[in-house]
Amino acid sequence: MSEASKVLKERERLAELGGGAERIQKQHQAGKLTARERVDLLLDAGSFVEMDKFVTHRCTDFGMESQKFLGDGVITGFGTIHGRKVCIFSQDFTVFGGSLSSAHASKICKVMDLALKTGVPVIGLNDSGGARIQEGVESLGGYAEIFWRNTQASGVIPQISLIMGPCAGGAVYSPAITDFVAMVQDTSYMFVTGPDVIKTVTHEEVTKEDLGGADTHAEKSGVANLVYPDERAMFEGARRLMEFLPSNNLDPAPRKRVTDPVDRPCARISELLPDVSTKPYDIRGVIEDVVDDGDFLEVHAAYSPNIVVGFARLGGQTVGLVGNQPAHLAGCLDINASVKGARFVRYCDAFNIPLVTFVDVPGFLPGTAQEYGGIIRHGAKLLYAYAEATVPKLTVITRKAYGGAYDVMASKHIRADVNLAYPNAEIAVMGPDGAINILYRKEIAEATSSGKLDAARAKLVAEYKEKFANPYKAAELGYIDEVIDPVHTRARLIQALSLLEGKREKAPSRKHGNIPL
Ligand code: HXC
Repeated sequence: MSEASKVLKERERLAELGGGAERIQKQHQAGKLTARERVDLLLDAGSFVEMDKFVTHRCTDFGMESQKFLGDGVITGFGTIHGRKVCIFSQDFTVFGGSLSSAHASKICKVMDLALKTGVPVIGLNDSGGARIQEGVESLGGYAEIFWRNTQASGVIPQISLIMGPCAGGAVYSPAITDFVAMVQDTSYMFVTGPDVIKTVTHEEVTKEDLGGADTHAEKSGVANLVYPDERAMFEGARRLMEFLPSNNLDPAPRKRVTDPVDRPCARISELLPDVSTKPYDIRGVIEDVVDDGDFLEVHAAYSPNIVVGFARLGGQTVGLVGNQPAHLAGCLDINASVKGARFVRYCDAFNIPLVTFVDVPGFLPGTAQEYGGIIRHGAKLLYAYAEATVPKLTVITRKAYGGAYDVMASKHIRADVNLAYPNAEIAVMGPDGAINILYRKEIAEATSSGKLDAARAKLVAEYKEKFANPYKAAELGYIDEVIDPVHTRARLIQALSLLEGKREKAPSRKHGNIPL
């Protein structure tokens, strides 16, 4: 080996050692893998090409000139997942706690620029103590450069954040702008201010885990879309998610060869739908019966379970599924469901993923908590997201579609392309019980005073149902294109998708709309 090659080899060895054997051991003892081990597990074996391996920080304060580590606490480069290119950065906690210096930020920015230029998704593995304290405002500037790039890349290339350790302070805002945030249980946490600051300011006592652990963000805040029990499960999950996504907003999502017959009858749906319209059932059962091989990747499952969102394939093509969930809060739309649904619809629209919506919604959730919390503003987000989406939009009303929620959930009026309903669908301004209270106030008062309320109500409800709580009025008006037997759902949706492959729809020219944030 030549002398020059030996020097290179030695430099590479040092770079690969990160913060050193002792810190690596500490990382393992904490139940965490190193930045390099993570990259190797996430990407296809042997596909990783590293960049900027020898970058060091340029700080000379606090004795930093004598503490330099090649790579400066972040590994950057590109590789493949299932043979498709991705750009990647992985913060190395063994070097200054993965903290972000200006050099560290420049490496991340370089790989993000490359991803945007080449139309390749970016995956960030976050494990960092935040801004490199020794570098002060230079580090803050580095963060802002990343945030700016996250925003420029939004809707152009998929951006995925894997949180694998601490992510605190303003650092949380880069993941927050990205499309998907995944967290590992017990070893990752995110917060703007930590437990100590909270105690000083508000006198609340809270643990790191309760404040910003994976379950907190999956269930309460909605910051995390996906949660995994350990790092290996996270890498498998991220690889699976990537299978559904296109590389950028101009490329189609990868198609999978279909073995599930496109005209397969959906045998389970009729069994799942209860005879009584107030009984709950799990909408995921309907979705799984319809999509290719029953393969449904739910995202954001633990947050606002009254709406279900996720990816699947129909005839080999990726689709985004949205479904009201009658098994939780009767499938009502509330603030959280509206925001969750809106963000997902906008993601699909940005990346040209057709939307399939299963509707079973009794309306918006009533109550002062919802009104004071701004259900008007938040509900409008979902309405806006559906109305602005120009991807193919297919809708199936499985049971209830009442009131404003009927309009919102990809109705014909906000330009869904194909609207189907099952024969037992109920499409009306409100449910029978509420409706007769208003329509027949006098008759109900009389029946109450003569002790015949139950019989009177039963008769009035039956009449109302006969007249309004069915799909045929909407079908007569052309708001529903076809009333179908549930058994034909898969075949009809795939036929519609095939027709809509060439769909062209343009929004009026403008700088951008003003979604009610
Ligand atoms: C420089 C840091 C650092 C930081 C950790 N280290 N955070 N160095 N800047 N921000 C170093 C430690 O000195 C230590 O170095 C090594 O990383 C590991 O840290 P430990 O404390 O030993 O690890 P652990 O006990 O696991 O605790 C991890 C931690 C803690 C919770 C992240 O280190 C911590 O609280 N760090 C400070 C966090 C913080 O306040 N960051 C600034 C947030 S404000 P040695 O040499 O001993 O291995 C912010 C603003 C961003 O980020 C704004 C963007 C707009």
